[in-house]
Amino acid sequence: VTVYVPRDSAALAVGADAVARAILREAAARGHAVTLVRNGSRGLFWLEPLVEVATPAGRLAYGPVTPQDVPGLFDAGWLHGGRHALGHGPTDAIPYLARQERLCFARMGLTDPLSLDDYAAHGGWAGLRQALALAPAEVVQQVLDSGLRGRGGAAFPAGIKWKTVLGAPGETKFVVCNADEGDSGTFSDRMVMEGDPFLLIEGMAIAGVAVGATQGFVYVRSEYPHAIAVLEAAIARAEAAGCLGDDLLGSGRRFHLAVRKAAGAYVCGEETALLESLEGKRGIVRAKPPLPALQGLFGRPTVVNNVITLATVPWVLAHGAAAYRDFGVGRSHGTLPIQLAGNVRHGGLVEKAFGVTLRELLFDYGGGTASGRPVKAVQVGGPLGAYVPESQWDLPLDYEAYAAVGAVVGHGGIVVHDDRADLARLARYAMEFCALESCGKCTPCRIGSTRGVEVIDRLRAAPAYGDGPARRVQQVTLLRDLCDTMLHGSLCAMGGMTPYPVLSALDHYPQDFGLPAPDGRAAA
Ligand code: NAI
Ligand code: SF4
Repeated sequence: VTVYVPRDSAALAVGADAVARAILREAAARGHAVTLVRNGSRGLFWLEPLVEVATPAGRLAYGPVTPQDVPGLFDAGWLHGGRHALGHGPTDAIPYLARQERLCFARMGLTDPLSLDDYAAHGGWAGLRQALALAPAEVVQQVLDSGLRGRGGAAFPAGIKWKTVLGAPGETKFVVCNADEGDSGTFSDRMVMEGDPFLLIEGMAIAGVAVGATQGFVYVRSEYPHAIAVLEAAIARAEAAGCLGDDLLGSGRRFHLAVRKAAGAYVCGEETALLESLEGKRGIVRAKPPLPALQGLFGRPTVVNNVITLATVPWVLAHGAAAYRDFGVGRSHGTLPIQLAGNVRHGGLVEKAFGVTLRELLFDYGGGTASGRPVKAVQVGGPLGAYVPESQWDLPLDYEAYAAVGAVVGHGGIVVHDDRADLARLARYAMEFCALESCGKCTPCRIGSTRGVEVIDRLRAAPAYGDGPARRVQQVTLLRDLCDTMLHGSLCAMGGMTPYPVLSALDHYPQDFGLPAPDGRAAA
């Protein structure tokens, strides 16, 4: 009987290794033949370690399993579908999973991440094969026609970027994968690298074939040791099997890949700082232009894309641009792997077509807060994303609809806060984060963030009596002015987007700053 125990960091963090050992021990003691597969995570984090048993009726899920539960699971005859309190029935029928539209994550959790046989058996390499049969410009056209936009957060059309690199003069070009996933509450890049690494490898090889690059780099944050280890092992296996290297799938085309470990700076997720860091320099933002697509790594034309963007490309090539474009709403085509985190009952990965609402994500998938208290604020799009109030929870998830209300979809990270959250404190944190992570190149960010912390401190300290209210109004004016300068005067998104959480907190939760509530109620 095959038993699956995830090897994803989210499962390891809650004891998956000990569970795997306990299963093998118990099976041996009872004389059961068990084949243990360490798969990727299905993304139902509140059930991790989520153990699955392969039965003739499909895979059955049990979780969260502790080593102490293992003897009881054997007693219940779980290897043959026996009932147990930790059982959830067929994994694929669990509503959280069944209601998703998994394109990028289609294989996630089904396979052994390092098994080339598993990968090929689940549709692997079909996209690359298709790309190798097309002319480079046709591959780029597919990506363009799919409507795929950069999933790192900026949502720039991937096909236009690839077209720029393809058309750029020069023999040497590069493909760089931005895997410096620094946003709070995000983990989709990590899941791909740990749970389906060949998918990223295939996506990068397709990018190489499309733009004429023969070397790629994956820049992975140092906080992801498991992802780095899995990727390195996967690259070695893919090279040995001819899926990467000097003769891509027997086509005579070349594409090599190497992993580079980042050093813990948030700003190195910004593409030009990332390129500086890859070149061995300090991670400082470069002015654009020149665009990396024209002068990127070592001054050569470079595709810089996020993990999810590149990992989506194999699906697009394998199923056709029109099939991908059919998902989504407006100009937001396809699906987004959304990450539910923070104070949420059912945290995890939800891949849905654009158009899903935050309310559906928070309650139908997330199940409300983990604390059981009312949801107060939701930060979407990382530490530089806006706090989205309840009045906006019915907006369709769509880059343009979010932009219209001053919010961002970003990399799809959603961090939930209950009614105990103090939005003034969170606004201060945004400024403090910016002050800590600023690369220091431009003044609005380097100095503005520190002044921002001070202004918010003064605002919060002003008493409710005497001249306190007048002082608060004065500080709010200053804060808005400062945010305006940062928004319009910063060189990159670090300083340019820090005002998003600050202003949204101020606009939607003024009572937390000691100001009158939007409905005229007095400050708390
Ligand atoms: P951007 O809008 O300046 O650029 C987007 C991309 O398009 C870049 O790669 C740029 O080089 C490229 N580009 C622009 N015009 C082009 C053209 N004509 N031809 C070819 N390529 C072109 O945005 P930026 O500064 O790269 O990213 C900001 C975003 O990053 C924010 O919206 C934020 O959501 C996101 N972000 C993501 C994080 C994460 O952990 N994933 C962390 C922090 C921010
Ligand atoms: Fe550096 Fe901040 Fe300016 Fe970006 S906005 S270039 S991080 S100082």
